[in-house]
Amino acid sequence: MSSEQHLQISEWPKPVYNFEQNPITEDGFQLGRKLFYDPMLSRDNTISCANCHLQFTGFTHVDHAVSHGIEGRKGTRNSPVLINLAWNSSFHWDGGVNHLDVQAINPIQHPAEMDNSLSNVLEYVNDSKEYRSAFFTVFGDSIATSSSLMRAISQFTVSLVSSNSKYDQYQRGEVDFSNQEKRGLKLFEKHCNSCHTAPLFNSNEYASNGLPIDTAYNDLGRYGISKVGSDSLKFRIPTLRNIEHTYPYMHDGRFKKLREVVQYYAEELDREAPYLSEKLKTEMKLSDNHQKDLIAFLCTLTDRSFLYNRRFGFPN
Ligand code: HEC
Ligand code: HEC
Repeated sequence: MSSEQHLQISEWPKPVYNFEQNPITEDGFQLGRKLFYDPMLSRDNTISCANCHLQFTGFTHVDHAVSHGIEGRKGTRNSPVLINLAWNSSFHWDGGVNHLDVQAINPIQHPAEMDNSLSNVLEYVNDSKEYRSAFFTVFGDSIATSSSLMRAISQFTVSLVSSNSKYDQYQRGEVDFSNQEKRGLKLFEKHCNSCHTAPLFNSNEYASNGLPIDTAYNDLGRYGISKVGSDSLKFRIPTLRNIEHTYPYMHDGRFKKLREVVQYYAEELDREAPYLSEKLKTEMKLSDNHQKDLIAFLCTLTDRSFLYNRRFGFPN
């Protein structure tokens, strides 16, 4: 079985990730998993990737709006979910990272995340008999380099595929939706799917959904990377898979409940907001019951076989 088949899901678009440059193997996946859950990667050995990316919440954090790193240092953004990353063509809320295989440098070096240096991490890994032997098995060289370290981590993160929610089962004709879920699906297709597009429920694009700028961070989103004025306040359109469990919501975690998000789109969104996407300029007219229907549909995107898959959990 080639690695690409391993992630090829019928009816889904082809993954963006180039598996030829980093063929996924079982040993590589297990090595990446070990690294992902290893707090020794942080400067004071307290924070692993999993501290901010917890499996049972779709690999994001839940207890605070923005991420917390070593020594309780606060970041400026909500940690995104790690779901179906093989289909993403850019990463971070502003798309500031364009390849998964370089992404992990950011949290390792970020002062408010792991605050370490790549050379420290490599020294630690290359001092460990277990890691040396694992790197030899996977990459044919017992000495880890920054490139093999990054690719090992990607072998794990790119394997975090969620494709077995109730929605997927419904699409495959295995289960039925309740009438409420069916009504919610219709509303979703009308108002949300143009951006949060099935089957991945994201877009590899940036948009403003009209949120007023957060006064704590003054985060201008995509503009910070592109420096193009019209990109102000645009953020990557995130996936809604497992959304029931990935609160708080938005780049700054400003909403704690799905109900608040739906209410925002239905009632609070300022249709005159600067940079607002054309797609959101017409009012949605969603009654309380419509909003409930929509939420019922969003909950069909929960995939317990993903959130509780032991294969993705803490290694034994
Ligand atoms: C202190 C919290 C924290 C830690 C530790 C952390 N991350 Fe993250 N992660 C974040 C935040 C916050 C972002 C979003 C950054 C942004 O948008 O600027 C992010 C983004 C990502 C993304 C991009 C996802 C996407 O769809 O855009 C990946 C992949 C990722 N992290 C993997 C990792 C890995 C691998 C590690 C360990 C080496 C790690 N993270 C450690 C908080 C953290
Ligand atoms: C114009 C494109 C667009 C449309 C249409 C749209 N959204 Fe969004 N959505 C976004 C963007 C962009 C974000 C991220 C904004 C941010 O973080 O500042 C987002 C974020 C979200 C989030 C938070 C995700 C997370 O992980 O934090 C939810 C939930 C959501 N949208 C639900 C909906 C629903 C429900 C609808 C339909 C009523 C909808 N969206 C319509 C673009 C859109």
